[in-house]
Amino acid sequence: MSPTHSLVLLLAIALLSICAQTSQASVTLENGVKSKVFLSPKITQHPGSVSNKYYYDIDFPKGHIAIKSFNAEVVNEEGKPIPLQETYLHHWVAIRYYQRKTIKEAKHNNNPSDLVIASNAGVCNSGLSQFFGLGSETRNTSTHVPDPYGIEVGNPHEVPIGYEEKWMFNIHAIDTRGTVDVMGCTQCRCNLYNVTKDENSQPLKPNYVGGLFCCYDGTQCKVKNGIKSGKRNVYMKYTIKWVDWSDSIIPVKVYIFDVTDPWQSTRSHDCLIEFDVKQCATGVASNDCTNTKRSNTSVPIGGDVVYGVAHLHSGGIGSALYGEDGRVICSSQAIYGEGNEAGNEAGYIVGMTTCYPKPGSIKINKDEVLTLESNYSSQKSHTGVMGLFYILVAESSKTLDYPDQIYQESKVSIIFWGISLLGLVMFTFVVVAYRRQWQSEGGYDSIAT
Ligand SMILES: *[C@@H]1O[C@H](CO)[C@@H](O)[C@H](O)[C@H]1NC(C)=O
Ligand SMILES: *[C@@H]1O[C@H](CO)[C@@H](O)[C@H](O)[C@H]1NC(C)=O
Ligand SMILES: *[C@@H]1O[C@H](CO)[C@@H](O)[C@H](O)[C@H]1NC(C)=O
Ligand SMILES: *[C@@H]1O[C@H](CO)[C@@H](O)[C@H](O)[C@H]1NC(C)=O
Repeated sequence: MSPTHSLVLLLAIALLSICAQTSQASVTLENGVKSKVFLSPKITQHPGSVSNKYYYDIDFPKGHIAIKSFNAEVVNEEGKPIPLQETYLHHWVAIRYYQRKTIKEAKHNNNPSDLVIASNAGVCNSGLSQFFGLGSETRNTSTHVPDPYGIEVGNPHEVPIGYEEKWMFNIHAIDTRGTVDVMGCTQCRCNLYNVTKDENSQPLKPNYVGGLFCCYDGTQCKVKNGIKSGKRNVYMKYTIKWVDWSDSIIPVKVYIFDVTDPWQSTRSHDCLIEFDVKQCATGVASNDCTNTKRSNTSVPIGGDVVYGVAHLHSGGIGSALYGEDGRVICSSQAIYGEGNEAGNEAGYIVGMTTCYPKPGSIKINKDEVLTLESNYSSQKSHTGVMGLFYILVAESSKTLDYPDQIYQESKVSIIFWGISLLGLVMFTFVVVAYRRQWQSEGGYDSIAT
């Protein structure tokens, strides 16, 4: 085999392997829907440790696009799923922001005018500005946005001049390996974390027994005696599906409601995010031990609800959003695991049921007062739990008879297939040339030919 041939062969193999990598690890294409798997920055843990960090400028699909789904799970360095009994995914949220172009690197203490949160459509005043985010239920909760809808991001006309659009994660993960009280650690009970001050060194209120103020980044939940260090790295692996933006996509807005929203009494949306559930009185039949919490919120928009899901913590039973006339907009129930494996962990909420109303069938009216109801079991007390409800609303009532193939073949796909084809042609050429060479040098035909 001549040096030229060897070189061509090497090049062809290199090209093919690049093509193979692109098709497996990053973009797959069907009907113009693209899918890419990303890894969060490394999260280093040891038994009992808490990581609650903000990661700026995370990997995210570029351009003016419509997000179709956002799935995630925690994996180890080999990419193997980590069950919730080991790393409890308290929450993760993906937040969009605009960063001033002159800023080199975003930091938590940046001047707020250099780093502007580009929030979802509402309704709470602070916090809950994310577009995507769940907790322990991440593996088995559907996030798919049905056609012809999509969550529009990356629209260059919405980005202020001098800024660029970026995304950040807040990931809160608790390593409960070897802890004395696994569920207590996941509920951030202050006694297990041995803290008396919050993250900003402010003393905790005397009646504060559990919640995020006790399990901030770097805190340590109590482990059993003799537990080895067990340091390891985990990642949040996330898969985003999207299509390039086009006029045939109906944009949906993201709204997040919170059962602690005090709007009914204060007319402000100063949501508390967390609350506690007291244990029911002894002597009450255990099936009556349900804590029901409700809040009213008015929405400044009207439109079609195309998706709905609740977020609850362990102990949660179900949650529903009702219209002013009492109609059910969406009811979302907790799914508990029954085994040990990732996605089916006993005692944990491993999924939430979702709502996909028939397009146009569930409407919300402008200024309608909605009631959010969330139910927790009060057989045991719970601290730092949440009652959120996430809905997607299409404001425009565009006609819904759209053609099946609404998304055009993208440029990326043409380039991708172009490169693949080129690789294949080169590979065939090299194989043929190689065989000829082999035969002319007196080699033998391979068994396959
Ligand atoms: C709890 O915190 C106090 C003060 O920070 C420290 O002196 C004590 O050793 C801690 N106890 C445990 C069990 O970690
Ligand atoms: C919400 O509004 C309904 C209807 O106006 C009212 O009956 C209910 O008491 C309100 N609930 C709360 C928690 O404010
Ligand atoms: C919450 O619990 C109450 C009382 O048991 C029940 O009437 C209601 O239907 C429950 N709501 C949901 C959304 O499960
Ligand atoms: C839950 O997630 C696991 C892991 O991704 C998967 O194997 C399982 O089929 C899912 N179960 C359901 C009911 O969706």
